Amino acid sequence: MYPGRAATRSLVTGGAGFVGSHLVEHLLGLGDEVVVLDDLSTGSACNLAGVVDHPRLTMIHGSILNTLTVGQAMQGCDRVFHLAAAVGVKLIVEQPLRGLRVNIHGTENVLTAAIERQASVLLVSTSEVYGKNTADRLREDSDRVLGDPLLSRWTYAGAKGIDEAFAKAYCDQEGLDVSIVRLFNTVGPRQTGRYGMVLPNLVGQALRGQPLTVFGDGLQTRCFSAVEDVVPAMVLIERDPRSRGQAYNLGGAREISILDLAHEVIRTLDSRSTVELVPYAQAYAPGFEDMRRRVPDNTKANALVGYEPRTSLTSTIMRVAADLLSRERLGSDAMPLAGAESFRGAL
Ligand SMILES: NC(=O)c1ccc[n+]([C@@H]2O[C@H](COP(=O)([O-])OP(=O)(O)OC[C@H]3O[C@@H](n4cnc5c(N)ncnc54)[C@H](O)[C@@H]3O)[C@@H](O)[C@H]2O)c1
Repeated sequence: MYPGRAATRSLVTGGAGFVGSHLVEHLLGLGDEVVVLDDLSTGSACNLAGVVDHPRLTMIHGSILNTLTVGQAMQGCDRVFHLAAAVGVKLIVEQPLRGLRVNIHGTENVLTAAIERQASVLLVSTSEVYGKNTADRLREDSDRVLGDPLLSRWTYAGAKGIDEAFAKAYCDQEGLDVSIVRLFNTVGPRQTGRYGMVLPNLVGQALRGQPLTVFGDGLQTRCFSAVEDVVPAMVLIERDPRSRGQAYNLGGAREISILDLAHEVIRTLDSRSTVELVPYAQAYAPGFEDMRRRVPDNTKANALVGYEPRTSLTSTIMRVAADLLSRERLGSDAMPLAGAESFRGAL
């Protein structure tokens, strides 16, 4: 926040998305005026259904690629939470140009508009920037280990890395008040499986009684963090002047293989589904590379704002399932919800 100015009006780019919609609700709860700028490409107005009539919420349907729109959306805003991005491994592999344009040009539009209006920025980046580094605990200054830049799979990590470099350069050379958070597999209600996100896909399959598809040998590990743990930390980090020019990991505490995750989903939802391993080459394309392991060191965010991932994976699985059922995101071709019946009973 710039000295002497109380932050009362926040712009949330990508505010109709999964993480963005939770952030919008949180900011409204804190008393902020909130402006959402979203092109609804992967997000949905339904994600904001609970606050759509809120008197302090303004929604703008538009793209961060349009500099005029970005400037208008930022009118009167003290701070910007920049989440709008082309996300999801499937989308990035299939549409690398879109990913590069939105994630690099769109982000630079947001950063330059923020400088002009003296707004502070929280840039939402990703653990993907660490690439294939399998260190025991990834610290913010850990090395990046990326694959061939000609593989579209790496364009997301490449673009987000450039975003961070842009943010730091604007901070150092032009005085932009910017902080960066790197999210590690954030999960929770409203996340869609359409673009390759693993948890909603597995939960949807378990509810339908279909086999849970796990890519590769399933022994790749991740640390899932709950959106309700991550969002308040994002706001506290943005508000803390010590975060200026710094990056912070926000990840989960428990390392779990995707195979174990699939079994935990089946157990939690009392589903009759089985697990099916699918080779990466079949799921994506020949030559697809994945990270074997991605474990965060959350010490820096913990020291700054007391961030601690508290929500259990089991409770997140239950909430994701309840959300999928209530939103009927299972699709028109959904098979009978075997296993879902007993789960419904538990709600
Ligand atoms: N969910 C995770 O596990 C995770 C992990 C790491 C980083 N992130 C980052 O968090 C942010 C939010 O991701 P999410 O998981 O909520 O995904 P999401 O797809 O739900 O949210 C992205 C939002 O940006 C919007 N958007 C895309 N292109 C746009 C454009 N050109 N102009 C305006 N809006 C546009 C989409 O419609 C969507 O609402 C992203 O920046 C992503 O890189 C998320």
